[in-house]
Amino acid sequence: MLLTGFFTLGAVSLALAAHTPVRRVAHESRRSLPAGWTPVRRAEPDLVLPLSVGLAQSNIENLESYLLDVSHPDSPNYGQHWTPAQVANAFRPSKASVDAVRSWLVKDGQIGADRITVSQSGAWILANVTVAEAEELLGTEYYVYQHGQDGREHLACHQAYHVPEHVSKHVDVITPTLHFDTKVTRHGITEPLSSAKDIGKVSKPVTGGVIHTIFDDLEHCDEVITLACLRVLYDFVYVPLATNKNTIGVVEYTPESHNETDFDVFFANFSKSQIGERPKLVGIDGGVLIPGGDPAESSLDLQYVLGLIGTKRQEVQLYQVGDPVEGASFNNLLDGLDKSYCTSGGGDDPTQDGIYPDPSPGGYDKDDCGTVKPAYIISTSYGYQEADLTPAYMQRQCNEYGKLSLTGVTFVYSSGDAGVGGRQDVCLDENGNQVTGGKIFSPTFPGGCPFVTSVGATQVVPGHKVTEPESAVFQRFPSGGGFSNVFPRASFQQKAVANYLEKYPPGYASNIYNASGRAFPDVSANGLNYSVAINGEFRLVSGTSASAPTFASILSAVNDARLAAGKSPVGWINPTIYSDAFNGVFNDITNGSNPNCGTQGFLAQPGWDPVTGLGTPNFPKMLTKWLELP
Ligand SMILES: *[C@@H]1O[C@H](CO)[C@@H](O)[C@H](O)[C@H]1NC(C)=O
Ligand SMILES: *[C@@H]1O[C@H](CO)[C@@H](O)[C@H](O)[C@H]1NC(C)=O
Ligand SMILES: *[C@@H]1O[C@H](CO)[C@@H](O)[C@H](O)[C@H]1NC(C)=O
Ligand SMILES: *[C@@H]1O[C@H](CO)[C@@H](O)[C@H](O)[C@H]1NC(C)=O
Ligand SMILES: *[C@@H]1O[C@H](CO)[C@@H](O)[C@H](O)[C@H]1NC(C)=O
Ligand SMILES: *[C@@H]1O[C@H](CO)[C@@H](O)[C@H](O)[C@H]1NC(C)=O
Repeated sequence: MLLTGFFTLGAVSLALAAHTPVRRVAHESRRSLPAGWTPVRRAEPDLVLPLSVGLAQSNIENLESYLLDVSHPDSPNYGQHWTPAQVANAFRPSKASVDAVRSWLVKDGQIGADRITVSQSGAWILANVTVAEAEELLGTEYYVYQHGQDGREHLACHQAYHVPEHVSKHVDVITPTLHFDTKVTRHGITEPLSSAKDIGKVSKPVTGGVIHTIFDDLEHCDEVITLACLRVLYDFVYVPLATNKNTIGVVEYTPESHNETDFDVFFANFSKSQIGERPKLVGIDGGVLIPGGDPAESSLDLQYVLGLIGTKRQEVQLYQVGDPVEGASFNNLLDGLDKSYCTSGGGDDPTQDGIYPDPSPGGYDKDDCGTVKPAYIISTSYGYQEADLTPAYMQRQCNEYGKLSLTGVTFVYSSGDAGVGGRQDVCLDENGNQVTGGKIFSPTFPGGCPFVTSVGATQVVPGHKVTEPESAVFQRFPSGGGFSNVFPRASFQQKAVANYLEKYPPGYASNIYNASGRAFPDVSANGLNYSVAINGEFRLVSGTSASAPTFASILSAVNDARLAAGKSPVGWINPTIYSDAFNGVFNDITNGSNPNCGTQGFLAQPGWDPVTGLGTPNFPKMLTKWLELP
C-alpha cells in the first residue's frame, strides 16, 4: 500500500509530504472502526503520548522452521526444546533496527536524541511525543473516539499510519495508534442448574486420580456433564506419576475470579479425596482473587482441571492476570512469562493491554516482567474477534506463542462460542466492519494463530448415551471455527484442510470466508452443561470455555507420562496431531455445524473440519502414540 490512504487525509498531511521527501508506506491500516465507536473531535495537539515502537525481531521468519525442528514427529530433534536464553538471543532485534528507528525519530521526527530510550529488553524504542509530533512523524491524524454505549472516550489515529519504506521493515508495531479497547471476552455461558432433575446423584470418590466406579451419574450425561461423564467420553483414567516435574497453568483475567469455598462444594459431590485442594495462585500484574468478581469462568476452568487431574499431588497454577483497577490482556500474561517480550516501561498497547506499573489509586505499582516460569500447558478460555485487533498486533502476539512453544510450552485456547461469526450475530460487512446482520464470517483470535491449539465444542446428543458418538454442539451455542483473515493456512494442516474443502465444499461465495487462511479449531471436547459450583450452588456452564480446560487436562496426563519416562513435554502439538502417525487418535465428529452470519456455517464431516477439528480426545490412543515419540 503506497500513499493512497495518506492523501485522503487532506491538507495537513499533504503539507507534511512537502518536507518529508522519503517514500512513506502505510505500516498498518484499519478498514473500519470496531463496533460502537465514532470519532467526536480531533485530539489536542499538545497532548503527550507515550510513543512505543516495537522493533522487528531478528530471525522471526525462521520461527516456524525452528519450531518444526523440535515439534515435528519425523524430526530427529523432536522434543529437544530450547532454553529461554536461546530464544531471547535468537530473536533479539538487531542493532541495525535500533539504529534505523532512532535516526528516523531524530531526523524525520525532530525528536531530540535525549528524549529517546531503548527498553531494557532491546525490543522497544520509547519517546514521549505530542500529538502534533506523532501526526507529523506518522502521517496520520489523531481523534478522540467515543463509545456509543457507555460514553467512554479513546484516543486513536485515523485509518492508517505511515513510516518510511526503509524503516518499515525494522518495525513490528507502533502504539498508541490504531488499536482500540475491545477488552478480552471470556467464552462461556452460565445458567442455573435445573433443580427438577436429580442429576449427578452419587459420584463415587476419586482416589489418586482413578475413579473406582463412575457409573451412577452416567445416565444423565446428555443433560449434565460431570467429571465422570468426561472420563467415560474420553476414556480418561490416569494416575499421575511425575507430579514433581509436570506443570499446568490456567489463565484468568481480572475481574473474573472465583469463590474458594466452591472447590470443596464441587469436590464433595464429584471427587471427595480432593477436598481441601486449591490451585496455586500466581498473580501477574497484581492479579488477586476478588470477592464478588465474576466467578463462572474461573470456577469452571479450575474445578474441571483440578478434578480431571484428580490428585492433590499435582499442582495446578492459576495465572490471575491484572489488578482489579485496570485488568489486563494476553500481552500482560506473555510479559509475565517472557522477560524478552516484556516492555520494560512501555510497549504494550494501552488500549488493549493493561499498562503497569498502574498509577491509579489502588493500582499495582510494579510491572511483572518474566516473573513466572511458564507451565508446560497453558489453558485460556478468553478471546477476541480478529476484527477487534490490527494484524501487526496479532502477528506479534502469535509469534510470542511460537517462541514460548520452542521451550516446550503448549498453548491451548477455546475457539469461541459464536460459530462462524461474533456474538449476537455480529459478522462482517464487505468493508470488514463488524455489523449486526453482516454476511461475512468473522474469525476469532487467537484461533487463527498457528502456534496455539484451538479447541472447539461437542456435546452428547439428548436421549443418547455417553458411549455414543458426540455431535458438534448445537444446543445453547455453536462452536467457534473457520478460517483466519490474517494468518495463512498452516503447513501442518495443508492436507487436512485441502481434503475438507475438496470433498465437502462448503458452497459459499469466495468472499464469505477466506479459504486460504489458517483453519481452526484443531481439536474439540465437550462444552455443554458442565455442572459447576458457584457460590455454593451448582450451575450449568457451557462454552468452548469448558472444552479448552478439559482438553488441556487430558494432554497434561500425556506430559506426565512422557516426563515420567524421561522424555520432554509435548510442546507445540499441531504438527504432531495432524501427522499421518496420529491418524485415528482422535474421535472423529461427523455430525452438526456451526451456524451464524445468516448461514448454517460449516458442517462437521469425516476427517478434520472447521467445526470440531480433528475430533475429541481418545486418551489411551493419545498416550500410546505420544509415548512412541522420542
Ligand atoms: C514519559 O513520561 C512519563 C511520565 O512523565 C515518564 O515516567 C516516562 O519515563 C517518560 N518516558 C520516556 C521514554 O521518556
Ligand atoms: C451433590 O450432592 C448432594 C448430596 O449427595 C446431592 O443432593 C446433589 O444432588 C448433588 N448435586 C449435584 C449437582 O450433583
Ligand atoms: C443442557 O441444558 C439445557 C438447559 O437445562 C437443556 O435444555 C439441554 O437439553 C441440555 N442438553 C444437554 C446435551 O446436556
Ligand atoms: C485471507 O488470508 C490471507 C492470509 O492467508 C490474507 O493475506 C488475506 O488478506 C485474507 N483475505 C481477506 C479477504 O481477509
Ligand atoms: C462463597 O460461597 C459461599 C457458599 O458456599 C457463600 O456463603 C459466600 O457468600 C460466597 N462468597 C462470595 C463473596 O460470594
Ligand atoms: C446432529 O446434529 C443435529 C443439529 O445439527 C441434531 O439435531 C441431531 O440430533 C444430531 N444427531 C446426531 C445423531 O448426532
